[in-house]
Amino acid sequence: MPQPPVVLGIETSCDETAAAVVDGARRIRANVVLSQLEDHRPYGGVVPEIAARAHVLHLDGLIERAMAEAGIGFDDLSAIAATAGPGLIGGVMVGLTTGKALAAACGKPLIAVNHLEAHALTARLTDDVAFPYLLLLVSGGHCQLLSVEGVGRYRRLGTTIDDAIGEAFDKTAKLLGFDYPGGPAVEKAARSGNAKRFAFPRPLITRDDCNFSFAGLKTAVLHAVRELERQGSVTAQDRQDIAASFQAAAGDVIVDRTRRAMAHMPASGGLVRLVVAGGVAANTYLRERLTKLCAEQGGVFTAPPIPLCTDNAAMIAWAGVERLQLGLIDTLDAPARARWPLDPAATAA
Ligand code: KG4
Ligand code: ZN
Repeated sequence: MPQPPVVLGIETSCDETAAAVVDGARRIRANVVLSQLEDHRPYGGVVPEIAARAHVLHLDGLIERAMAEAGIGFDDLSAIAATAGPGLIGGVMVGLTTGKALAAACGKPLIAVNHLEAHALTARLTDDVAFPYLLLLVSGGHCQLLSVEGVGRYRRLGTTIDDAIGEAFDKTAKLLGFDYPGGPAVEKAARSGNAKRFAFPRPLITRDDCNFSFAGLKTAVLHAVRELERQGSVTAQDRQDIAASFQAAAGDVIVDRTRRAMAHMPASGGLVRLVVAGGVAANTYLRERLTKLCAEQGGVFTAPPIPLCTDNAAMIAWAGVERLQLGLIDTLDAPARARWPLDPAATAA
């Protein structure tokens, strides 16, 4: 096996087709991502069948490009890592089957990666953080607080009991007439808005646990929009004020839940480390709120660069490196999974 190990990563669990090459010295040698945004935009969300077909169409070419950019051949690889779930099952099957075929053809070990574990371990690739740390995973499909205690060792401290936060951003954007995906559009509009104009709810923040809820917040946005429509029209300023008020409420929920979770973490070297991951971690306002929270609580905040927070294959390759170094390889009958919780002991909510 080459030293340090070199792993090809493949990601196809949602609407990004991606391939990357990462090595055990934490070098990203290639990282190519093809977004299918334009394919799904007319439908206002990801269409699983269209996503799976686009992965079939583009994955081979992207792997070829990643290998060329890394300047290596398949013989130079130590292993092939592919997302095996959770995600849209058609897409997961395309990537995992491709990974298995390559592993079989090249005689390399296969690593079937949990997409959530890859998000969870990204800060070790980018910032070399040590276990344990608190992970706030905020994306279109997930909103969780996890204690990351080692590779394969995760304890869920909180999760959403209804919508994921990215979903709440996307639905708010839709109500405001912004394009899909709505998160970046809501953030941009919020910059010119009055966050105090609408008193939106902060669901669950008086509760003792670390769970999230965003359904009530989304409904409050709906009512605000309907009320403005009833009174006449919704102006650009109205939209900006709703976006800012929504983002402030979502931020308060995230900060409150995260503060509670920090209290459940063992402090390594006297400090609790908070790591953020997932597409919503691209939100600058949320990053600022979390930075402030850590400063207040005497914690350390780590946020990977934005292209490594959203879905990508470098994180899959890195999870492959970490698992390979521990001898955690998979057989060619590893299943594709639509659902695959990181903490199987945790109940649904
Ligand atoms: O992790 P990701 O790329 O895909 C998965 O859901 O797995 O996350 C996508 C989500 C979408 O809901 C998108 O609206 C949200 O991340 N997002 C943002 C921002 N950029 C992306 N939400 C708020 N502010 C942003 N700047
Ligand atoms: Zn993701």
